[in-house]
Amino acid sequence: MTIVVLCCTIVLLVNLRSVHSSSLEDGLLIVTVATDETDGFLRYVRSTKKYDLDLKVYGLGEAWLGGDVANSAGGGYKINLLKEGLTEFAGREDLIIMFTDSYDVVFTNGASEILEKFRKMDARVVFSAEGFCWPDKSLVDKYPKVTTNEKRFLNSGGFMGYAKDIYEIIHYRSIANTDDDQLYYTNIFLDLELREKWKIKLDTRAEIFQNLNGALGEITLKFKGSTSYMYNVISGTTPVVFHGNGPVKVEFNRMANYLLDGWTTNSGCQSCKEDVINLKQFMEDDFPTVMMGVFIEKKTPFITEFFQKVAALKYPRQKIDLLVHNSLELHKDATQVFLDNVADSYRSINVLHPSDKMSEINARNWAIEECKKKACQYYLSVDSDAHFDNDMTLQLLIEQNRSVIAPLIARTGKLWTNFWGSLSTNGFYARSEDYVDIVEGRKIGLWNVPYISSMFLIQGHIVSKLTNPYSALDVDPDMALCRYLRNKGIFMYVSNLHFFGHLVDAENFDTSHKHNELWDIFNNPHDWEKRYIHENYSKSLQEGAVISQPCPDVFWFPIVSDTFGEHLIEEMELFGQWSGGKSEDPRLAGGYENVPTDDIHMKQIDLERHWLHFLKVYVSPLQQKVFLGYYHDPPAALLNFVVKYDINRQRSLRPHHDSSTFTINIALNSPGEDFEGGGCRFLRYNCSITATRKGWMLMHPGRLTHYHEGLPITKGTRYIMVSFVDP
Ligand SMILES: *[C@@H]1O[C@H](CO)[C@@H](O)[C@H](O)[C@H]1NC(C)=O
Ligand SMILES: *[C@@H]1O[C@H](CO)[C@@H](O)[C@H](O)[C@H]1NC(C)=O
Ligand SMILES: *[C@@H]1O[C@H](CO)[C@@H](O)[C@H](O)[C@H]1NC(C)=O
Repeated sequence: MTIVVLCCTIVLLVNLRSVHSSSLEDGLLIVTVATDETDGFLRYVRSTKKYDLDLKVYGLGEAWLGGDVANSAGGGYKINLLKEGLTEFAGREDLIIMFTDSYDVVFTNGASEILEKFRKMDARVVFSAEGFCWPDKSLVDKYPKVTTNEKRFLNSGGFMGYAKDIYEIIHYRSIANTDDDQLYYTNIFLDLELREKWKIKLDTRAEIFQNLNGALGEITLKFKGSTSYMYNVISGTTPVVFHGNGPVKVEFNRMANYLLDGWTTNSGCQSCKEDVINLKQFMEDDFPTVMMGVFIEKKTPFITEFFQKVAALKYPRQKIDLLVHNSLELHKDATQVFLDNVADSYRSINVLHPSDKMSEINARNWAIEECKKKACQYYLSVDSDAHFDNDMTLQLLIEQNRSVIAPLIARTGKLWTNFWGSLSTNGFYARSEDYVDIVEGRKIGLWNVPYISSMFLIQGHIVSKLTNPYSALDVDPDMALCRYLRNKGIFMYVSNLHFFGHLVDAENFDTSHKHNELWDIFNNPHDWEKRYIHENYSKSLQEGAVISQPCPDVFWFPIVSDTFGEHLIEEMELFGQWSGGKSEDPRLAGGYENVPTDDIHMKQIDLERHWLHFLKVYVSPLQQKVFLGYYHDPPAALLNFVVKYDINRQRSLRPHHDSSTFTINIALNSPGEDFEGGGCRFLRYNCSITATRKGWMLMHPGRLTHYHEGLPITKGTRYIMVSFVDP
């Protein structure tokens, strides 16, 4: 007999041993039952490997026959699989077996720790404990009493004991696959005779097993050097088996981000380095295929830039199948410009236009189906408000090798992002304790989260498991997808390991103009600046910058982009109500202008508020740079207007002072190209500026010293933007 046992042990050691010492050598074997290799299961296996725990898995690849355990009783199937699996260990007194669930369990330490704690408990069999009596509440009073700091009731998701006893316990009675396993063990435990026979105890103080349900507030994560562990503040224990039983999966997943030394204060994200793929080792021809779905489901500012960034992604286009669903007439032109631009460069292109009238849900489901049809290796989903500012985003996401991964993108400077750290009880947004640290980059890593949106990558083997994942009657498609993935046990990660991009704010987007973004300075200041502010604007603000001064106390700065000039001119021309340069002017308080220009006021196109903001944010800092000691906050300006000098209309302006402390004058188009002649002459200095520069601003005192005139144009049309600041 002894010889046989010895022989089997040796066989097992060969089978299960990893390179270093294994738990079996110490007499501990971990067993679990799992039919699917879910992400949770893989996480569990990683934890056993990390702590050199020898593991046997029963049931992999078989159909689950144990009922709907997530929502009701069941799980007898686990016992029946165990009966079969543990036969080889029947009668063994020298081996300790620990059973745990696996989809929602991780180990946080190894065999010597586990065995030491077990021996201290002076039991032959130990079951984990929790605060809820389930599934039969009527059994409450049959349980032995415990102190207030202990958990009273048996949980069957984790137990351990001598192989002999465990074997006898699972064979004590027969159980149907769909009967409840927890009830099975509970009935044994509550039978005093049986309890004593097998010397069964409950781990009421979470020495070994920590069940999370009902204990959320009792556990904190701790870090020691480059290691992380869990501490139970009520019982002062450091449990070894962490079980996210019941409806606490989201919080369990969150805490598991840190456990297994996945993220520690000393070393940051260590799990990020696991299982990564290195695309640099691939020739471009061997890059994996990607189905990219682009979804324009709502009115979105800065869609031109959005498309430019999609086109600029660093990834061989011959490896990308492109799907575009544009549901809005508003964005037809921008979509077409993009499609013309990229022409036939993608592996395939499939476009649905507004006229196809496909709903958002159907379009998103359709993309998943197309991905399956093409046996895509990855599916990349991108919404029109999600900008790739990092052209390596797709490659970086692939390299991270996770089932579903989203790059963290936020509205610039805001806490609004494309992920949720937690869920409210009804499945909506809730903020997790670490959300702000992650968004603001105080914690950098890879985070398993319950909700992602806007831009994410799904691995092909996961896509093949999805059937109409966006369909739901009760929630929006983004939430439907995430709920679907959660229910399937598919992990969604968000990464803030790099800067990937940002979200534009598409709420309150006023689309009543041709160039709507001109009005979007408040909603999307960052995008507005990128599009409309001159790329060299900030150079003037640098210390020691040489500011050009073409005439005495007339300063010259690059301030707006060419696009700004073009868009503002177009909007003014579309509006079309040029004043005609008459002295009688009903727009003015006095109704009369001494030196009238042919102009349109910003107020008339509802751009006045925006313009005053522009003066404050972009003009005032420049003014303070050149006219020291003068500072009005905010700068005031009653007259902000675009002047038009046209060869067939008003061509020049006679000498005058401005009713301003200082005046700004921005050239919106170019001499030589759009017009000839023109410019500004300061009479006192006999100094003229004729070679004006598109996008550049002249700034000069308004009165007394800077008596000036508008020089006549000789051809074309010249536009300038003028503000009389601090009248
Ligand atoms: C990608 O992840 C899977 C699952 O975790 C793993 O089996 C595989 O080895 C990983 N690939 C690489 C290249 O590490
Ligand atoms: C910005 O400055 C650089 C360097 O002087 C110059 O090459 C570039 O053309 C400038 N950009 C614009 C839009 O004028
Ligand atoms: C003003 O400048 C122009 C050209 O720069 C010059 O021809 C003219 O004589 C100057 N007038 C006076 C009054 O200095």
